[in-house]
Amino acid sequence: MPTRLRTQYVCQQCGRTAARELGRCPQCGAWNSMVGEAVAPPKPRRVGTPTSGSRRAPQRLAEIEGEAEARLALPIEEFARVLGGGIVPASVVLVGGEPGIGKSTLLLQMAVQMAHHGPVLYVSGEESERQIKARAQRLFGAQGVPDGLFLYSETDLESIIHHLESLQPILAVIDSIQTVYLPELDSSAGSITQVRDCASRLQAVAKAGGTAIFLVGHVTKEGAIAGPRVLEHIVDTVLYLEGDPFHAYRLLRSVKNRFGATTEVGVFEMGAGGMAEVPNPSEAFLAERVVNAPGSAIAVTMEGTRPLLVEVQGLTSPTSFGHPRLTANGVDLNRLLLTIAVLTRRVGLKLAEQDVFVNVVGGLRVEEPAADLAIAAALASSVWDRALPADTALIGEVGLSGELRAVGQLPARLREAARLGFRRAIVPVSPRLERGGAENLSVVEARSVREALRLAAPEGRSSNEE
Ligand code: TYD
Ligand code: MG
Repeated sequence: MPTRLRTQYVCQQCGRTAARELGRCPQCGAWNSMVGEAVAPPKPRRVGTPTSGSRRAPQRLAEIEGEAEARLALPIEEFARVLGGGIVPASVVLVGGEPGIGKSTLLLQMAVQMAHHGPVLYVSGEESERQIKARAQRLFGAQGVPDGLFLYSETDLESIIHHLESLQPILAVIDSIQTVYLPELDSSAGSITQVRDCASRLQAVAKAGGTAIFLVGHVTKEGAIAGPRVLEHIVDTVLYLEGDPFHAYRLLRSVKNRFGATTEVGVFEMGAGGMAEVPNPSEAFLAERVVNAPGSAIAVTMEGTRPLLVEVQGLTSPTSFGHPRLTANGVDLNRLLLTIAVLTRRVGLKLAEQDVFVNVVGGLRVEEPAADLAIAAALASSVWDRALPADTALIGEVGLSGELRAVGQLPARLREAARLGFRRAIVPVSPRLERGGAENLSVVEARSVREALRLAAPEGRSSNEE
């Protein structure tokens, strides 16, 4: 009997299926996201028998062999830490990020490093073998690329899986999951059905052969390309590479990890030599700081378990066209609006009729409320046209009544500030202040934003303030 193909409509944003085309997806609310895809009818199954070829019986825990986590050491430390301490064999890792952010570069560097220890297959659906070779040789030198690295420019997943099974590499990179396709499916490469089914097949191959597979997934700002969202459920680990394309810093963040914490962040710098690790990110982010400039304040934010000192800049200037403008780079707009309201109402700064610009140096995004006080101080310093003391770090969340609220992991933040040579930190009042061994740091507690600003810049208040 010939198999009849049925058409179903699949939301390319979230994977919801419907029998007819809908203008708006009932699950995620996206408009015009439904695309028709052919589906083969399900195979009839006999009731009462196991569905797949697997006839394995349950095992007692004590009888299961093997160590839980034998990892492959990855010499790129910032990367290894985000993975939870190295590469887990037979795992599938998705590395998502906007085009051009450095995913291919980072994964090629990883592939070269790992090829010293066993066969590694780098599959690209976007570049030819020669292009990848040229890039690898530029990054590592002609002698620096080990024999164990295999390059394969292919998009047909059947062929890719065939070579994965015959080569049995310790590691494979599929760059990208949106360019590969299964010929048996009727939809085009990059559609949600292809992306999902390809990832499931690769997951099975990884589990069967012990190969760790890294998938590259492109996401655009609008999340328009099918993939990473649906893939998150299939893979073991999801990492996102992010950063401002106009700056060199890149953050590798884990958002899901079956084998480790999801709070870890790795910091890299994209340069002529590829993605270079930044082991001391605070130093890097403060390197360009101009001391004694008005409108600059130092925040201590947590990136995962790691404290990071960053410079927040604020600039206020009288509005020229009637409507005050607010420009925020790297800070959360709602937190900035709240901070401005508190500065206006509780501190008495005249910020109405002012254009306000806030910028986090280095292209970093600081979403944490603990950076509120530094944002407030940067703006106040700009209004007063007075620099804040260069050796002071500001930590604290700003509340609606102008109070300074406690933040988590204060000892770690204070230690990092002390390590970088800061002499003073202004922090929220807490019943039991833990300094975390930051002995050379004078820690000053403040109850409110107003008090914190007075402590930070005693001579700051001027005629501009009520
Ligand atoms: P790429 O890894 O191709 O990004 P993705 O795979 O995420 O799309 O990196 C693209 C950018 O990185 C490109 O604009 C050039 C730049 N780049 C460097 O600055 N230095 C380098 O050594 C390499 C290989 C790329
Ligand atoms: Mg790429």
